[in-house]
Formats: sequence, structure tokens, C-alpha cells
Amino acid sequence: MEQKILLKESDVPRQWYNFAADLPTPLLPPLGPDGNPVSPDMLAPVFPMNLIEQEVSQERWIDIPDEILNILYRWRPAPLKRAVYLEQHLKTPARIYYKDESYSPPGSHKPNTAVAQAWYNKQFGIKRLTTETGAGQWGSALAFACKLLGLECKVFMVRISFEQKPFRKIMMQVWGANCVASPSSETNAGRKVLEQMPDTPGSLGIAISEAIEQAVTDPSGTTRYSLGSVLNHVLLHQTIIGLEAKKQLEYAGEKLPDVVIGCAGGGSNFAGLAFPFAAEKINGAEMTIIPVEPAACPTMTRAPFAYDFGDTACTTPLLAMYTLGHAFVPPPIHAGGLRYHGMAPLVCQAIVEGLLEPRSYHQNKCYEAALTWAATEGAICAPETSHAVAAAIDEAQKAREEGKEKVILLNYSGHGLMDLSGYDAFLAGKLTDYELPDEDLQKFTKELENLPKAEIRKTGKW
Ligand SMILES: Cc1ncc(COP(=O)(O)O)c(C=O)c1O
Repeated sequence: MEQKILLKESDVPRQWYNFAADLPTPLLPPLGPDGNPVSPDMLAPVFPMNLIEQEVSQERWIDIPDEILNILYRWRPAPLKRAVYLEQHLKTPARIYYKDESYSPPGSHKPNTAVAQAWYNKQFGIKRLTTETGAGQWGSALAFACKLLGLECKVFMVRISFEQKPFRKIMMQVWGANCVASPSSETNAGRKVLEQMPDTPGSLGIAISEAIEQAVTDPSGTTRYSLGSVLNHVLLHQTIIGLEAKKQLEYAGEKLPDVVIGCAGGGSNFAGLAFPFAAEKINGAEMTIIPVEPAACPTMTRAPFAYDFGDTACTTPLLAMYTLGHAFVPPPIHAGGLRYHGMAPLVCQAIVEGLLEPRSYHQNKCYEAALTWAATEGAICAPETSHAVAAAIDEAQKAREEGKEKVILLNYSGHGLMDLSGYDAFLAGKLTDYELPDEDLQKFTKELENLPKAEIRKTGKW
């Protein structure tokens, strides 16, 4: 039996898959400050028009330019591996496959979209990109992409991660980016937060406000903002993961998986793997599709579906999504990439439809799963990825109890070699589990009552 299912470069998909074309109920439109849907032109100061076109596209397939593919070949096609040693350890009849996105130079799935976004910006004449980063994975991915494409890159890194993960900052510097801790004194948004909360650990919402502010206030007009998750075009670029995995499962002699799993911060690696399979579910296939989040930031499992801003300073359009509220300041758990207050609208609408079954886990359980993974498969996974690993272990154990030969597919979104401080704290028994109290959930989501209501629309088929 093959442990690795490898593709040729010629097998890499030539088109991305746009889930919006198959979503049974369309997304609610993003709204502007006046409560009316935003037009593509209104996004133009923030994103280049070629990416805005992808953001609003209803085309099912979108061509991947050859120049982008040529850069992706540095690490794509990514291997699909069978977790045979974990299977043996769990004594499960399940066959567990994982798509290994840790192979990219920055170490995660994030460069799949970073390269695409940097390329489209460059085509549009943009010289500099600004962005935010949580764990530093996205910042390092964009720094890498900008270096290869000759763009300048500015990264606002959530302060708690900036302090916990100095090596990610150094990676960004090696790839030529300028990385500062957020909130910073460089922007109005950052200064305002620092005045009110000088000791804040920061949040992705604050860092996004800072990065957007710097992009839209550049007098030369050649700076744009780049987001590493949440938006439709980002999820689109990540579908290369699921499209490759589908081919690989076929080569392995498998039909469709029974269970598809990904961790979800803003939803991009989960959607990248899951959407090509969710399309099969829409067409009648039976499948359990599970996005996993931390119990400390329970966006999909406990938050309301509502219109909310994507950032703390309320500068973005309003998106219809599950949200903990834009003022949410997450607890400093170690999965820095899973602390965003919202979730990709496409993922949220798929949840509303009943196509997905989100769940949440505490961080100690996830680190235990990561240690089991390291002891069996060998690799040390990112703290975010450990949420998917924990769910895969639970599903494999369930298959054993039920005596069922299930096929479980998970996204191994990144390695954890730059995140060892979390492992250190876990091994020293210093990690505490944190469940967001109901009072805090109510406090942070209170402001949503003053925003337009998001209607729940579903076909009721799933
Ligand atoms: C390794 C890894 N996995 C998952 C995530 C979560 O992001 P998303 O939900 O967009 O995939 C991150 C975010 O930083 C990450 O670094």
C-alpha cells in the first residue's frame, strides 16, 4: 500500500473552483455604511479590480494563469498521505488521508492565495501590499509571495503572536517585509486602541483596520490591502487543495471520502479542501464535512448569524456571517490563526444550509492530538492544524466503535516548527482551557443589534 499519493505537475488543476456558483442559496450581499449593497467600485481603493471581479464572480471555474502555476510548482502538487501509523495506533478500520500543505516554503496553505493575490496586484500596477497576520503564517506567506514578485510588503502582526512567535517575524524580514506589532502607533486605528487599552494582546480585527488604513491613505494610489482568509477570492484560490486531493483519492482507489475535516480560522484552508467535495454533497453524495474551531473563539458553534464588520474600527463593508462581534478580543490561546471574530461568508452560508457540521475543541485536547500525531506520523503540526487532527482522531475512533471502514480526509494546513512555545507550555502543564462565558458572548455581540439584520435563507434539503 502506498503511503504517499503523488501527482505530476501536469496533474495540477488549471482552474480554481468557485463554490458560489453551486451554493443552493446565494450569499447575502456585503453592505456599505448606508446599509445598501456595496458596488465593486466601492472596493477599488482597497483591492485591485481583477481580484474584485473574482470576489463577485458567479462563474463555476476560473482559469489559473500560467505565471501563477509556475510559482506554485515550487511546492505543488502537494502530497496526499495516508496516516497509516495513526490508523494502527488507533486500531481503527478507517482509512485516514491528509493533504500535506506544510510543504510550501512558508510552511502552510497560505501561499496558495498569497502568490495569486500578489500576482493580480502586480498585473494591476500595484507596488506595495499591506496586511495583518495572526500566528504569522499569513504574513510570512505574503512576504514570500511579494519577494518572488517584486512587491513591497507591510505586515501588522497581532501583538501576542509578535511576542510569542519571534521567528515568524524574522522569516518575514528574510523575505524583505516590514513587520510591526499591532496595535501600532503608525495608524489612527492603532493609536486609538493603544490609548484605551495600552496592554491589549491585539486582535486580527485591530490589525486589519491598521492595514486597510495604510493602504487607502497612500497618496500615490499604488498600495492595496491583502487578506489571507474570509473573502470569496481567497477561498477560491485555496480550492486547488481539494481539487488535487480529489484526483489523489481516485488514484488511491477510493471513491469520495465519508468525512472531510479542516480547522477554521477565517475558513480558507477548510474551504479549500472541502468545497470541491461539498459540491458532490449538493449533488446527492453522502458526506460529513466538519470545520473545527477553538472553544475559546466559538464563532460557528455559538455566535449569531449577523451582519458585522470585518475589522474593529468598522472600516470594512458589512458581511453576513457567524460573528462574535467586531469588538471581540480573543483570549490568548496558542492557535493564533483561529482567533478571528468572524468566518468566511461562503462557509457560513454552507452552515446555514446544513451542508457542514461545525464543532469546537479545547486547546489541551488539540495538543494531546498533536502529540499523538507526532508519535505516529512523525511531524509536528501547527496549533491550528491540531484542531483538524483532533477531529480526525475522534472520527477514526467513532468508526472503530461503529465497526465501519470509513474514509477520513483532513487538511494538514501547516507545520508547527515556528510555534514551539505553545508545545512548551503544553508539555509544562501550563495551558488552560478557556470556554467563552455567555456574558462575554452577549457583551461582544450586543452592538450587532444596531446593524442591519441578516436573513437566514436555506433550502432545507440538508
Ligand atoms: C497553519 C494554519 N492553519 C489554519 C489557519 C487558519 O486560517 P484559515 O481558516 O483561513 O485556513 C492558519 C491561520 O493562520 C494557519 O496558519
